[in-house]
Amino acid sequence: MTTRPAPRAIPSDEALSAAAPESVTQASLADTFRVVGRVLVPTVLTGVVKRRPRVMALAQKLQTDRAAVRLLGELRHRYGHALRLRLPARPVALALTPEAVGGVLAGTPSPFSPASKEKKAALGKFQPHGVLISEGPERTARRELNEAVLEPGRAVHELADPWARTIAGQARDLLGGDTLDWDEFTAHWWRIVRQVTLGGDTAEDRELTDLLAPLRRAGNWAYATPGHRRTRERFLELVRRQVALRRPGSLAAALAAEPAAEGVDPAGQLPHWLFAFDAAGIVAFRTLALFATLPDQLAAVRKELDGVDLTEPQQLPRLRASVLESVRLWPTTPALLRETRGETAWGPDRTTIMVYTPYFHRDPERLPYADRFEPEIWLDGRAANNAALVPFSGGPGACPGRDVVLFATPTLLANLVAEHDFRLVGTALEPGNLPLTLDNFGLRFEVGDRRS
Ligand code: HEM
Repeated sequence: MTTRPAPRAIPSDEALSAAAPESVTQASLADTFRVVGRVLVPTVLTGVVKRRPRVMALAQKLQTDRAAVRLLGELRHRYGHALRLRLPARPVALALTPEAVGGVLAGTPSPFSPASKEKKAALGKFQPHGVLISEGPERTARRELNEAVLEPGRAVHELADPWARTIAGQARDLLGGDTLDWDEFTAHWWRIVRQVTLGGDTAEDRELTDLLAPLRRAGNWAYATPGHRRTRERFLELVRRQVALRRPGSLAAALAAEPAAEGVDPAGQLPHWLFAFDAAGIVAFRTLALFATLPDQLAAVRKELDGVDLTEPQQLPRLRASVLESVRLWPTTPALLRETRGETAWGPDRTTIMVYTPYFHRDPERLPYADRFEPEIWLDGRAANNAALVPFSGGPGACPGRDVVLFATPTLLANLVAEHDFRLVGTALEPGNLPLTLDNFGLRFEVGDRRS
């Protein structure tokens, strides 16, 4: 196994220590309309909990994120660290500088709670006891349990042995054809996800993960739809049963084995994990598109793979940095939401704060590499020192599953690219000017065996 340190996936504590803005200016009505039209509406329409393929295709065509990034850059010049929208229903504020982002993330969960009203309504449809929508002592205990099982900060999880073999096996199956599209890729990805989370022979056992799809679609509408009561009950019942089976080598077994404090509902943590693994599949497929576009980057990755046994767990820092860079370019959580508890500089109690990550990840004024693929930033400390490069969020609410993702995804990619070439068909990426919006559902590759 390589001894190079694994790239850090979240900003350092020093980067996050910046203070919150002293006051937040109220936006004009015209600017409020512009933010609603260019930032909020496109984000909601593409599907916050489950992406909508047709809307994603349209968003790519229109490059909706580009317009949003331009607008927020302009507003930062006029409003400074942050602005509060003039919305009738409730107070909503937007962070506009890395300092403001750092202050909000460092101040999680108090006074900036991740359990915002929108998230509770959307995620409550399938994970009523998830840590992300919990508060107070319940949140603390659920967070501890998530950390104990997912092991953030550890590049190679203690269960990585069987996972590496599972991933290598699924990659072999994936490489059977001359082409690869999203449907085929995602079918294999979910087999991996089921085996990693549930264990045993669940690769083909689709009922549980299939039930999640309609619940997530309902989640897209948050409180605007009542949700599917029967589907939800069946889904949660299956989750409980799967966890009780404690199949060796699975996250579910690790979850069942942890002592849990009162009110934690260990099985109730698993729905978020299944949901979030979807994003990791999207990130993997987009990274493959980058490798297909950037032969030098692919060569550097292949160098790291030289002589490495991929049926054993490996750290692969270069590949890990590449995956991080892919999720910087196209963050799968475009809106980090917090809701204030008590009055703060951001506004009255229950002000929603939004960190629109595509803006900070692609800010052309602050990042010389904004629209390029530059994995080195994850290896040389530039990303760790920037409070607003937050594909996995940051601070006490940062993604506890990040190191599981950053093991599984690079391992899959390693198995795919080690001996096969991928050519993008139908989508052209411009290396110096990568698109702000990239529709993962529309990506398609021709696959060739390098040895033949
Ligand atoms: C590419 C894949 C993933 C990305 C980009 C990602 C990113 C994130 C982000 C940005 C947050 C913070 C959300 C917020 O504050 O609103 C988060 C939270 C979380 N993620 Fe992930 N995640 C991924 C996959 C996973 C996986 C696979 C798991 C579990 C196996 C996981 C477990 C969690 C949990 C439990 C939380 C809630 C943490 C808390 O509230 O304290 N994530 N993730």
